[in-house]
Amino acid sequence: MNQKNPILELSGVTKYFGGLAAVNDVSLSVSEGEIVGIIGPNGAGKTTVFNLVSSVYKLTHGTVKFNNEDITNLKPHRVAAKGLVRTFQANVLFKDFTVLENILVGCQLQVETSMFMDLFNFRTVRAQREKIHAVADNIMEFVGLKNYRDELAQNLAHGHQRMLGIGIAMASHPQLIMLDEPVSGMNNEEKSEMMTLIRKIRDRGITVLLVEHDMRVVMGLCDRVAVLNFGTKIAEGVPEEIQNNASVIEAYLGADD
Ligand SMILES: Nc1ncnc2c1ncn2[C@@H]1O[C@H](COP(=O)(O)OP(=O)(O)O)[C@@H](O)[C@H]1O
Ligand SMILES: [Mg+2]
Repeated sequence: MNQKNPILELSGVTKYFGGLAAVNDVSLSVSEGEIVGIIGPNGAGKTTVFNLVSSVYKLTHGTVKFNNEDITNLKPHRVAAKGLVRTFQANVLFKDFTVLENILVGCQLQVETSMFMDLFNFRTVRAQREKIHAVADNIMEFVGLKNYRDELAQNLAHGHQRMLGIGIAMASHPQLIMLDEPVSGMNNEEKSEMMTLIRKIRDRGITVLLVEHDMRVVMGLCDRVAVLNFGTKIAEGVPEEIQNNASVIEAYLGADD
């Protein structure tokens, strides 16, 4: 692939829960504009890697660099403010908010500081509000939810709820977005729509790091794939290399999941 600058670099990333290494000495570099997948059996440590990069958990050892800056164990909201944003494995939405309101919550992260500075300038506040609504409209269009703008999140179909989760993440203007099992629970049509959306995200210049079980989706979408097994990275390469790697087949691909 295109050899661009590394945007995210994990070095020796390790996490112990009690005596158990959930993630063990994992190094991984993600280049700007790539779609990189992390696969592996249940319990391999995939979600924990996301939780370490986004600082939900503290690393036991190792470092995480984003745009060449050490962000290891920074507060989660500060990681997000730098442009490194994640979605969760399960839907995390404000279920009794509308689609628009959910997106506006996502936008909030971006504007809070400037809003406070302008608190006593009402003209600026109104202009800000119009600007934010324009951004929200753009995002609803982008994730295909424009026609559901005033629908409560809880009334959306599962696939649309996952799209909304991505819309919320997009609202904070990420440079890199981490997606945890974006097509879980989806039917084939929804999966294809999600794959199209993920490609559109990348085409906007946003780097994508995703965890996914569905091999058709992983192999069809990713430029590179890393494989975790018992917390350790056992392989990394382009999809064809991974599909033909003997230890990967033994650990994972051979077994019916
Ligand atoms: N908060 C936690 N406390 C204790 N153990 C955890 C915690 N989170 C994850 N684990 C353990 O770490 C291992 C990796 O889990 P996880 O990263 O969720 O795997 P995956 O996403 O690959 O299925 C599992 O053994 C899991 O039980
Ligand atoms: Mg997981």
